[in-house]
Amino acid sequence: MADFVNCAALAQSAGYDGVEVMGSEGYLINEFIAARTNQRDDEWGGAYENRIRLPIEIVRRTREKVGPDFIIIYRLSMLDLVEGGSTADEVVQLAKAIEAAGATILNTGIGWHEARIPTIATSVPRAAFAWVTKRLKGEVSIPLVATNRINTPEVAEGLLAEGYCDMVSMARPLLADAAFVQKARQNRADEINTCIGCNQACLDHTFAGKITSCLVNPRACHETELVIAPAETAKKIAVVGAGPAGLAFAVTAAERGHDVTLIEAANEVGGQFNIARKIPGKEEFGETLRYFRRQLELTGVKLRLNTRAEANALADEGFDEIVLATGVSPRTPEIDGVDHPRTLSYLDVLRDEVPVGKTVAVIGAGGIGHDVSEYLVERHEPPSIDRFFRTWGVDPEYKTAGGRTAPQVEPAERQVFLMQRSTGKVGERLGRTTGWIHRAALKMHGVVTASGVSYNRIDDQGLHVTIDGAEKTLPVDHVVICAGQEPLRDLHDDLVARGCSVRLIGGADVAAELDAKRAIDQGVRLAAAI
Ligand SMILES: Cc1cc2nc3c(=O)[nH]c(=O)nc-3n(C[C@H](O)[C@H](O)[C@H](O)COP(=O)(O)OP(=O)(O)OC[C@H]3O[C@@H](n4cnc5c(N)ncnc54)[C@H](O)[C@@H]3O)c2cc1C
Ligand SMILES: Cc1cc2nc3c(=O)[nH]c(=O)nc-3n(C[C@H](O)[C@H](O)[C@H](O)COP(=O)(O)O)c2cc1C
Ligand code: SF4
Repeated sequence: MADFVNCAALAQSAGYDGVEVMGSEGYLINEFIAARTNQRDDEWGGAYENRIRLPIEIVRRTREKVGPDFIIIYRLSMLDLVEGGSTADEVVQLAKAIEAAGATILNTGIGWHEARIPTIATSVPRAAFAWVTKRLKGEVSIPLVATNRINTPEVAEGLLAEGYCDMVSMARPLLADAAFVQKARQNRADEINTCIGCNQACLDHTFAGKITSCLVNPRACHETELVIAPAETAKKIAVVGAGPAGLAFAVTAAERGHDVTLIEAANEVGGQFNIARKIPGKEEFGETLRYFRRQLELTGVKLRLNTRAEANALADEGFDEIVLATGVSPRTPEIDGVDHPRTLSYLDVLRDEVPVGKTVAVIGAGGIGHDVSEYLVERHEPPSIDRFFRTWGVDPEYKTAGGRTAPQVEPAERQVFLMQRSTGKVGERLGRTTGWIHRAALKMHGVVTASGVSYNRIDDQGLHVTIDGAEKTLPVDHVVICAGQEPLRDLHDDLVARGCSVRLIGGADVAAELDAKRAIDQGVRLAAAI
């Protein structure tokens, strides 16, 4: 307790206006509160009154030390989402006691880190947990803060207008766009770079001991090192490919004053992000494309859609620099019968929406293999909070301690077998903070996974495999190949031969282990330097 108080006092002497006491997410204070973790037999354990003495004493003693004007926010675990968590009544009791102990504001905590219900991932519908904060309205008189997946000014305004809360907290949206508040205030919400909830460069970095940043904004926490200054000499630059890498490069280079032409073969910008956003739970990825489309307008990039760049024509236009951001092409593994009509690539399924049968084998269990499996087993509907809660077992009536209930999983649309050649756990290399969600979603939908698989043959009977030394035939309607990608850079050598200055970014540079984090980072870094 003395340490909490001392920390607040130090913050005050350093000039801060206030502190937030972290009483949620399953950390120390929360461990005292929950019967599940507090097994003490002294006056700090046992009855609820005893278990909540720690937070109350911390707030009381801190207030005593810092005086009346310093802000003390208390982050109250309003929904533990674990067995043995607090009940709704207990949460109200604690809130009142914390107010009486001298807190200025109550913030909302949702879910312990140990909870097996997603709370801030992309697949969590926007503002899904704000109803929990609303339950406390009228119970206390200090302001209440709603939190988690509130990522646009419209959502935030809606919550305030509808009386869910008095304030809104945003963490990741401010990493995605440091000018979020300024843009909202100036009615420029369409210019905001929206947090897509991916966790790839923020929380995944934090848990790996790396500097926190943001997939859609690589400058986050690198502002002094990755500087976007006006170009000394404006150059005429062509960018081929309007996927994440090409878009990030184009708008950043144009912002610096370069004369940028962006050439895209498809009829829209976005590259593979247009495919990713079709995956149930990844709809947010569309926001990044909305952001880039607006930035293209604002920065004056000359966009040529429906135009496949050719080396000779490109070279003849006299660009000072040509940036190839042409992405990747799917790799076709050498399997006997891989050209059989029942074989599809992930592009056939996701981009071209070729009809897929009721039993499917997915070859390759990386990120795309998992996404394809989710796409095949889940119903495709716009994100819905009710449906999300039913699927994961959140009780919106908060009748149970911790707010959990039995999940009601919708029947799978198909039977899917997800397989990988390598040994080890399927899905092990997915994102640290989100991989478990994808693995759990597939398990709920009965997806059968296997590793250490040899693919022997695809024919009229289905897919013939060897697993653990045993040969098997999977009588599937379709086999979908998600077996990696190769760089697509066929323009490169011709352009170099014509004496052009050519740079490669994103998948066109390196396809292995490619993700949008690297593609965007590489695009922005090259644009800052060119
Ligand atoms: C289903 C799915 C889910 C994904 N999920 C995630 C995720 O959750 N997180 C993540 O980080 N990444 C994800 N990705 C990967 C991510 O989308 C890619 O890493 C990223 O798009 C690569 O960017 P890029 O700009 O290098 O290439 P691409 O996005 O492939 O873009 C290349 C562009 O170049 C164009 N092009 C090619 N040749 C020419 C030419 N000659 N002339 C004109 N245009 C040309 C193409 O039409 C295309 O638009 C996912 C991908 C898929 C398919
Ligand atoms: C980089 C980063 C680190 C975080 N670290 C913690 C943490 O240590 N403990 C915690 O309970 N929450 C942590 N959070 C979660 C935030 O406190 C907050 O609950 C969440 O990000 C709110 O949702 P939003 O980002 O959608 O606004 C972290 C979030 C980010 C982005
Ligand atoms: S990395 Fe993803 S989740 Fe994290 S702040 Fe950026 S967009 Fe949001």
